[in-house]
Amino acid sequence: MNAHWAADVIGEILITEKQIAEAVRRLGAEITRDYAGKDLLVVGVLRGASIFLADLVREIALPIQIDFIATSSYGHATKSSGVVRIIKDLAVPIEDKHVLMIEDVVDTGLTWSYLSQVLETRRPASMRICSLLDKPSARKNAVKVDYVGFTIPEKFVVGYGLDWKERYRNLPFVMVASPEAVARSSEEENS
Ligand code: IMP
Ligand code: MG
Repeated sequence: MNAHWAADVIGEILITEKQIAEAVRRLGAEITRDYAGKDLLVVGVLRGASIFLADLVREIALPIQIDFIATSSYGHATKSSGVVRIIKDLAVPIEDKHVLMIEDVVDTGLTWSYLSQVLETRRPASMRICSLLDKPSARKNAVKVDYVGFTIPEKFVVGYGLDWKERYRNLPFVMVASPEAVARSSEEENS
């Protein structure tokens, strides 16, 4: 795809459309195998996970349910503060359900650690997380990701759901945002 319209953040393409499609198929097959015979609720964390979820659920060959939760993290465009607010809650109760959370990226782990604690109080039968991207070297909180699409280095990336200041989510691949663009963004946020 020609992404000339994203030229101001364009860096290297880290994960191609083809690689994403392969990972989505692999994860879908694993999830199908692991949850066979169980009642599974797949929960997308808006907005970053929306594109990944849409592709992933079509590779899960089980009669799953789908729900969404939206969180907002206090902090600037490229770093999470770990203080998370639920701005749109789940539509269904999760008590006694097998819940699979879908995330775009687990970076410091602060968001997932907070969200999982909140959701555990609702007593699901089980709760796991599937994240398109995992940046284990950025962890501030020792959370583990159960299903990982790609383990990536501590770089700021956009595309396939991931944003920089709410833009570039619709790129069909994952690319590294240019350090200059990210630096500009941090300056703006701090001013
Ligand atoms: P964490 O709380 O640091 O694990 O980060 C969670 C959130 O930070 C993600 O859901 C994203 O919204 C955002 N985030 C972290 N790394 C990136 C990135 O490389 N690109 C875009 N958003 C990111
Ligand atoms: Mg974001």
